[in-house]
Amino acid sequence: MEHINPVLVPRHRLNNGMVIPAIGMGTFGNDKFSADQVSDAVYGAIEAGYRLFDCAAAYQNEPEIGKVFARAFKNGLVKREELTIMSKVWNDMHGQGDVLVACAKTLRDLQLDYLDCYMVHWPFPTYHAPGAVLHGRLPNAVPFSLEEFMSTWRQMEKLYDLGLVKAIGMSNMTITKLEQVLPLCRIKPAVLEVEINPTFQQWKLFDYCEAHDILLIAYSPMGSPCRPERDTTPDDLVTFEMPELVEIAKAHHCHPAIICIKWAVQRGHVPIPFSVYENEYVGNLKCTTEDFLTDEEMERLKKADPNRRMMKGMVFLWESAKDWREIWDNEDPE
Ligand SMILES: NC(=O)c1ccc[n+]([C@@H]2O[C@H](COP(=O)([O-])OP(=O)(O)OC[C@H]3O[C@@H](n4cnc5c(N)ncnc54)[C@H](OP(=O)(O)O)[C@@H]3O)[C@@H](O)[C@H]2O)c1
Repeated sequence: MEHINPVLVPRHRLNNGMVIPAIGMGTFGNDKFSADQVSDAVYGAIEAGYRLFDCAAAYQNEPEIGKVFARAFKNGLVKREELTIMSKVWNDMHGQGDVLVACAKTLRDLQLDYLDCYMVHWPFPTYHAPGAVLHGRLPNAVPFSLEEFMSTWRQMEKLYDLGLVKAIGMSNMTITKLEQVLPLCRIKPAVLEVEINPTFQQWKLFDYCEAHDILLIAYSPMGSPCRPERDTTPDDLVTFEMPELVEIAKAHHCHPAIICIKWAVQRGHVPIPFSVYENEYVGNLKCTTEDFLTDEEMERLKKADPNRRMMKGMVFLWESAKDWREIWDNEDPE
């Protein structure tokens, strides 16, 4: 397997001083890939030179990934302190005392004594079963509550105080929600994980996070071509077919996926692409170290942003909500 020297991969400094790689690997099997397939890919990715991994309890594969981390440390493939391991508290563990329990379970499953970053996965306590298919609204779905979110965040701050997590972050937030939450945070989020790809560039949120010194982690950096049925609508775009992306990929003799990664890293947010295929995940890492996009290509992609969200979060819609845009506070991301 080709090894990419991690020293060559760009890095970012978080608002708490921590330094993390400018690209990581996603570990959500999209209900299509088994826990063993994903954890095998994690081992391969460590061999290839990946040093950042995006995990979550909801992905139902932390025990398998934990075995792989333990094996990699035991074999001397990598040292614990060389990895940035992130995870997230799932929506059914927002209650008082639950966040500590959720974090403890993740630590046990991943076989770690600390996490580099722990995030609130969604700003709603709405639970849906793994692999859920969309059949109308969930009876337990509720809209965002500042009080509920802050009680969850206070527990995140406590985990940080205890040193069990080296940084804390949020996911799936909007500017509207951040405006309410940030003034109340004793410890500001170091990162925010949201969907970003060339077909959904989120410029307003990007500028907002830059101004507030919060690093954006980009999920679905390729527009998530394998996402579960529940996250698709008939008029969705296919990121890999975006004409400007296809043309730039031709000029660089590569797959559009590679341009998605180069664009992300050069723009300054952290993509966490998922793939279980060695040629893909090695290529995704390697492309951050060579053959950069020109300023003109970056500008061309910016101008071409069709601004179309893939991950709509429809399963979290509460009874009275009109449509999925309410999950995102009806914000225009451009
Ligand atoms: N915080 C959140 O709420 C949230 C939500 C969603 C995802 N995430 C995180 O973000 C990660 C990535 O998101 P994602 O899985 O939705 O989407 P993605 O990374 O945009 O898309 C993954 C798919 O892209 C294809 N791909 C990857 N590299 C490729 C390459 N070099 N050439 C061609 N195709 C390539 C693969 O398709 P094939 O398998 O067909 O090759 C793969 O299944 C997840 O694993 C998870 O860690 C977080």
